[in-house]
Amino acid sequence: NDVSRVLKYRARNAAVAIMARTGDPLCRIMHRPAGEHTVYAELRARGPVHQPKQGPPLLLSHRLCSEVLRDTRIGMRLPGGRSASPNNTLSGTFIEYDPPDHTRLRRLAAPAFRPRLLRDYRTRIEKVTLDLLHSAVRKGEFDLVTDFASPLPIAVISDLLGIPDEHADRFARNGRLMAESPMGTSRLGHQRAINAAIADLGRLFADLMEQRRADPRDDVISLLTAAESEDRITADELVKTCGLLLIAGFETTVNLIGNATKLLTDDHPAQWALLKQDPDLAPRAVEEVLRYAPPVPFASRICQETVDLDGRSLPPKTMLMLLFAAANRDPEAYAEPDQFLLERAAGEPEHLSFSSGIHYCLGAPLARMEGEVALRAMIELMPNLRVIGEPTPRPTNVLRGYLHLPVAV
Ligand code: HEM
Repeated sequence: NDVSRVLKYRARNAAVAIMARTGDPLCRIMHRPAGEHTVYAELRARGPVHQPKQGPPLLLSHRLCSEVLRDTRIGMRLPGGRSASPNNTLSGTFIEYDPPDHTRLRRLAAPAFRPRLLRDYRTRIEKVTLDLLHSAVRKGEFDLVTDFASPLPIAVISDLLGIPDEHADRFARNGRLMAESPMGTSRLGHQRAINAAIADLGRLFADLMEQRRADPRDDVISLLTAAESEDRITADELVKTCGLLLIAGFETTVNLIGNATKLLTDDHPAQWALLKQDPDLAPRAVEEVLRYAPPVPFASRICQETVDLDGRSLPPKTMLMLLFAAANRDPEAYAEPDQFLLERAAGEPEHLSFSSGIHYCLGAPLARMEGEVALRAMIELMPNLRVIGEPTPRPTNVLRGYLHLPVAV
């Protein structure tokens, strides 16, 4: 297993080296995300789809990305149902399935986000937010990511799944490791620790399922074990679904809160002032942060049959890269797309940061709520919040955000 990982790691590095030599734009984007919008603008000037010398076509337009995400001839898996990336931590979870399995599993997990539960989560989010921010205020200077943005979503997901307090640290530790890299960073040595985390979480979920079978509660693990008893989900799918909620809902939300803080307090103080004047703009601020700096900057899809796209015929198995970060700044969709504005013109389409179509983010209402509560609390408890040191960007290209963001209240 390790040998195969080493080979894959080398192959990936070789591919990146080839891309670099040929001046491949995707390579430039992945290695220099800070300058990615200049690259997108150059490519967009040549058309909505860019075919690099190596690798899959890149889709830059909001309209085309939306069309592809809703096209039933384009899916997640290879034609025939094989996983396109069997070794990443999301493989075997419903995010990488096509119908009918995707539909079945998504339906089973969806009740975890019904309005009554969301109202309960809000109470919990507010409490955790206030606890974390009060201790941050006492410190005066703190790391916005490790002291606030990171512990908040992990506490919320623990609650949602029903992880008992005595396992909260074990859950958070493993979750952090797993979520660090859904597609794998290039740090091979890290892979062993990630595998150990996956195995330990599997054991934790399996133990909890055993308990919930005997003593069901109002949590997702109980909801899924009930479905298991009716043969609607297998034990393996059940463990994987819990893992998906953890991975999909954790670092993404950390990045939303980290990006929001940097964009508002440091990069666009006039917008921060606007938000302080009118805290009810918080939900719009969350949307604009998501549009401007999407935590998940791109996704991929695979043609299941021949598809015509923007005048070219794509054979089955063609992979497509959907650049959400580019689509979110498409001038055909947004007026002044490179401006960060809480008060955007009415009638602009929703950003693609939660994707679209059948894989539209299941946790979007929860993520929005966490972002809104966090912003409202920061305005109230630390209106003079400011960045005081160099932020550390995440060392991965699949997620955009910060590992550390030093701030003072
Ligand atoms: C799917 C983004 C928070 C659970 C997705 C996808 C994106 C996304 C882009 C679709 C990927 C694709 O189409 O290939 C985000 C962002 C978040 C966030 C930016 C925070 C700001 C959450 C939370 C949860 C969650 C809090 C749950 C606790 C899921 C699940 C899916 C998903 C289960 C799979 C949906 C499906 O395949 O049908 N998310 N997410 N996400 N997300 Fe989120």
